Amino acid sequence: MCSPEHFAVEYAINPWMDVTTPVDRDLAVKQWDRLRETLVGLGHEVHLLTPEHGLPDMVYAANGAFTVDGSVYGARFKHEQRAAEAAAHHAFYESQGWRFVAPSETNEGEGDFAYVPEAHGGLILAGHGFRTEIPAHAEAQEALGRPVVSLRLIDPRFYHLDVALAAIDDANVVYFPGAFSAASQRVLTQLFPDAVIADDEDAMAFGLNLVSDGANVVLNSEATRLAGKLKAAGYTPVPVELAELKKGGGSVKCCIAELRH
Ligand code: ARG
Repeated sequence: MCSPEHFAVEYAINPWMDVTTPVDRDLAVKQWDRLRETLVGLGHEVHLLTPEHGLPDMVYAANGAFTVDGSVYGARFKHEQRAAEAAAHHAFYESQGWRFVAPSETNEGEGDFAYVPEAHGGLILAGHGFRTEIPAHAEAQEALGRPVVSLRLIDPRFYHLDVALAAIDDANVVYFPGAFSAASQRVLTQLFPDAVIADDEDAMAFGLNLVSDGANVVLNSEATRLAGKLKAAGYTPVPVELAELKKGGGSVKCCIAELRH
């Protein structure tokens, strides 16, 4: 995770960002800190990246890389404004002794890649359409040695995979079908017949941008309906308020880069 100490909405690279909306940075830091404390309280270890001046989106740490089985596939941001973030993530993984594969193709890490370890022996789901480019899906498969399934995103509000789909345990996912092309929806139905299905309201509340340890599902507090569906499916929803960070187009998952050793 990376503190939003330098968070701002200075440019608009997704439909949620409005440069005329004021941002309360102190509140953003407080809300982000509650998220960090929540993860620690659930027994997770959190490493921190040092926030950098001039990188207002660095709080969205999910976009800096994608890890599977102790290997890291690095990010290469689509927009120039975020390009420099990749180096900070690279340095972190190098310092921790991970096997790091540098990317040649445009991809935004966990923003567009998800991993479901017990689905079909270990499956990477990969979004394209807005940020990550299709050649990066093949590059990730070669880097990580796990099959990659490409899914086409069609709604600019759901510009990353992680605002439309999330793994809720080792074998299952929750997603909002409307974010995907009709063909990609068929692929998801085939792969995950028991998936939890979210609706437009759940997605607009950034409910899909969640992190789950298989039992506890940490999600945006506005997504009350989705929390109810997850509870009915046997999970424990853990709501966290992240309203300030929504102004940059992100929520819980965007703030967390998961380390899959
Ligand atoms: N402002 C950031 C961008 O548009 C938000 C990134 C959100 N992160 C995510 N994992 N979806 O790039």
